[in-house]
Amino acid sequence: MSISAIQFAQQNRARFLDELKDLLHIPSISTLPEHGEDVRRAAEFVASELRRIGMENVQTIATAGHPLVYADWLHAPGKPTCLCYGHYDVQPPDPLEEWLSPPFEPTERDGNLYARGAVDDKGQMYIHIKALESLMQAHGGRLPLNVRVLIEGEEEVGGEGIAAYLRQHPERLQSDFALVSDTEMFAPGLPTLCVGLRGMIYTEIEARGAKSDLHSGMYGGAAPNPFMALCQMLAQLKDAHGRILIPGFYDGLVAPSSAELATWKTLPFDEQQFLAHEIGAIALTGESEYSVLERLWARPTLEIHGMPGGFIGAGAKTVIPARAVVKVSMRLVPEMQPQASFDRYKKFVESICPVGITVDVRLIHAGDPIVIRVDNPYIEAATNALRVVFGRETVFVRSGGSIPIVGDFERYLKIPTVMMGFGLPDDNLHAPNEKFHIANFNRGIETVIHFFERLGAA
Ligand code: BES
Ligand code: MN
Ligand code: MN
Repeated sequence: MSISAIQFAQQNRARFLDELKDLLHIPSISTLPEHGEDVRRAAEFVASELRRIGMENVQTIATAGHPLVYADWLHAPGKPTCLCYGHYDVQPPDPLEEWLSPPFEPTERDGNLYARGAVDDKGQMYIHIKALESLMQAHGGRLPLNVRVLIEGEEEVGGEGIAAYLRQHPERLQSDFALVSDTEMFAPGLPTLCVGLRGMIYTEIEARGAKSDLHSGMYGGAAPNPFMALCQMLAQLKDAHGRILIPGFYDGLVAPSSAELATWKTLPFDEQQFLAHEIGAIALTGESEYSVLERLWARPTLEIHGMPGGFIGAGAKTVIPARAVVKVSMRLVPEMQPQASFDRYKKFVESICPVGITVDVRLIHAGDPIVIRVDNPYIEAATNALRVVFGRETVFVRSGGSIPIVGDFERYLKIPTVMMGFGLPDDNLHAPNEKFHIANFNRGIETVIHFFERLGAA
């Protein structure tokens, strides 16, 4: 007797998890050149898995950076076409000593699977693949709708490979909607669709002073110090109330509608709990005239990530460094433009550069902010599928994070995206002890099965 796709998924849970562990063993860290071979191995792993489950035209596509993995199955005439997106690259695992089990030795503890990439995004990307496998098995090698799969290996570095491919060959990706599982649920057990992401510009400022490092006693007082210059400039970018001081920076910003803001007020959000358990600091900061969720989802921000250079060894060295660098990023919200934002920032930094210093302001990568359309049958089918599996109504949220390609799906493919994520707020994305709640891996697979079966039946 034939079994349903849901039954197949339930009977194969252990194997699905084992296969995910195999992928999590590969340290596909896209930003570290010494892991280039691992990144390529992860792409091959995903491609061979897509081949094995019965997808067609499976290929790895070379880019200027790390390869894309593409596959399709397009034999459901008259049915919608879904573009399944995910990324197989991961963030670096440091600081290693804070991991309770090694980042690339996936380990189960308390119903969670711990590993770098467990939730961001290998585990969530695998939800799509395992749902497709279950559907193929239950429907005699067929799918209820048409599917294209596009998985990238440089999401975590803002790589342009996928965007370049999409702009050059939009016809090869022609679809009715995209499905992205790379976001979080607002709370455990609460089905969530993400409808907005912040964009970003990631930049570097290099300040140069003397022609080489100088003895700080012999020359201090007369020679320019590039670190001090950077600090003086950085202090002028944002005030103590969280307001960004770059002239014109907020131009084009469109505030959320009062209806959207009203729905955010109904979300189960406890500021004290958020401060104590997610942030773990003594106070929240930022623009106090906006709620925390508005600050995270609908306001731009500016952060300093690091200041490489100078003396950072254990003891003391009396030196005036010849050069200093700072890495600064800005998160953008609709309809702020990355290039215009960068131009304003660069011009402002150059205008406040202290005497004796020359600065070079560089853009490392950029991505558009996006708010997606929700008045489409795909969002409706998604909430129906989520209701079946989670037994609750879906909440619509935005996220402060960025997934640059989602804006391109809208702008270049002219399709809406369903951002259906199964991560939890305490999954430690980009941090030590990243995990994926195993129950959410299973529920995710079942939700995608229901979602595709509904869209195929309509
Ligand atoms: N999956 C995240 C983005 C995300 C996290 C969205 C949580 C919603 C909720 C993604 O992998 C990510 O980390 N993106 C980077 C993008 C950047 C490097 C261009 C980010 O947001 O920093
Ligand atoms: Mn991700
Ligand atoms: Mn990430």
